[in-house]
Amino acid sequence: MSTQPTQAGLDAYWMPYSSNREFKANPRMITGAEGAYYMDDRGRRIFDGLSGLWTCGAGHNRTEISSAISKQLGELDYAPAFQFGHNKAFELAERLAAMAPGDLNRVFYVNSGSEAADTATKIARAYWRQSGQPNKTRLIGRAKGYHGASWGGISFGGIGNNRKLWGHALDADHIHHTWRPEQAFTQGSPEDGAERADELLDRIALHDASNIAAVIVEPFSGSAGVIIPPVGYLKRLREICTEHNILLIFDEVITGFGRAGATFGADAFDVVPDMICCAKQITNGVIPMGAVLIKDEIYRAFMEAGGAEHNIELPHGYTYSGHPVACAAALATLDLLERDQLIPRVAEMAPYFEQAIHSLKGLAHILDIRNYGFAAGLSIAHKDGDPAIRPYKIAMDLWEKGFYVRYGGDTLQLGLPFITESHEIDSLINAMGESIKNAE
Ligand SMILES: Cc1ncc(COP(=O)(O)O)c(C=O)c1O
Repeated sequence: MSTQPTQAGLDAYWMPYSSNREFKANPRMITGAEGAYYMDDRGRRIFDGLSGLWTCGAGHNRTEISSAISKQLGELDYAPAFQFGHNKAFELAERLAAMAPGDLNRVFYVNSGSEAADTATKIARAYWRQSGQPNKTRLIGRAKGYHGASWGGISFGGIGNNRKLWGHALDADHIHHTWRPEQAFTQGSPEDGAERADELLDRIALHDASNIAAVIVEPFSGSAGVIIPPVGYLKRLREICTEHNILLIFDEVITGFGRAGATFGADAFDVVPDMICCAKQITNGVIPMGAVLIKDEIYRAFMEAGGAEHNIELPHGYTYSGHPVACAAALATLDLLERDQLIPRVAEMAPYFEQAIHSLKGLAHILDIRNYGFAAGLSIAHKDGDPAIRPYKIAMDLWEKGFYVRYGGDTLQLGLPFITESHEIDSLINAMGESIKNAE
């Protein structure tokens, strides 16, 4: 069977978040995957330096997950999630509730990170309405925050390019991101800057807390090029939200399930939010799934305000919420992370990765390197006013050398598989050094 798409196929497929014209002139076709590597149509092995799209930390084609999926398909391929249940959804919810920090012991299933962010913010707004404070509708995000591609995500998210095409669809405002030029090349969290969270007080002064439903932030951002919060910043956000009766939502679509060297970013930074959004790593990327982990008090408020027992307390959900195959994949993923101790492994290997990635400091065009756990971002100098050309060229050169890394805006991003060995880190960093030196 051919591994090359037909011209009709190339014409028909409008690829997401892709430069379609560039790709279709020179298709990069992935034909297989195993562990930390892809295979391409030229028979090459390519190291997966972003774990898919921050999804496949346990490595590709894990038989533990695929056999759980096959078994599930043989038993129950689909069950309606509205008004009916199947046991794996409850088993997984119990498991996630036990893993979540604090009293985030209620689980709402979705199918993606975008849906998780929409769901958490919808719950926040509905919660305040249920609680007799219907004016608390405004959402506060951060500049450079990425919360998905839906109308909600592009509104409380802070990605300028999204605004260019779609504008702003929801009642949302933003505080700045935390990055400052003087902290360039910091390893891990910058020591200074916790007070940047106080900008939230300005938004509260402007809008009044009586109009604000929730603050939504990523513990550290991935898509914007891995921006790490200063020590104490997230704690300060938590304090301000608590003082002013505003819900705090952590979007852990990237940081959840090991990326930060802890189960959640909330654990890594020792802060308990009111809700956590997750997706991606929850099934090791094998099947779409997401979830929102919700604090007990919020769930109980909905149940108490629910009226007659046959009433639906939250008219929200998706056809595929808690899909049995996704639940089976998630349970197998959590088993695998635990059995192979992959999350502690990330914590253990992170200092090695940190030293390696920061060894690129000093090369031409590199303006900053940031890292946490098994995530890193590099800012690359713009060329002739074009922020994206150098990261694109470097990433393509790396693809030719057998390494996949992500490029976005003026950044390169790394999210290593949790199973990465130190010699693989060395090879990746050597190749990156060469590709960066080759960039004009
Ligand atoms: C923090 C965060 N939230 C939400 C999303 C959106 O996830 P999805 O593409 O699954 O909708 C992403 C995707 O990268 C993300 O990084």
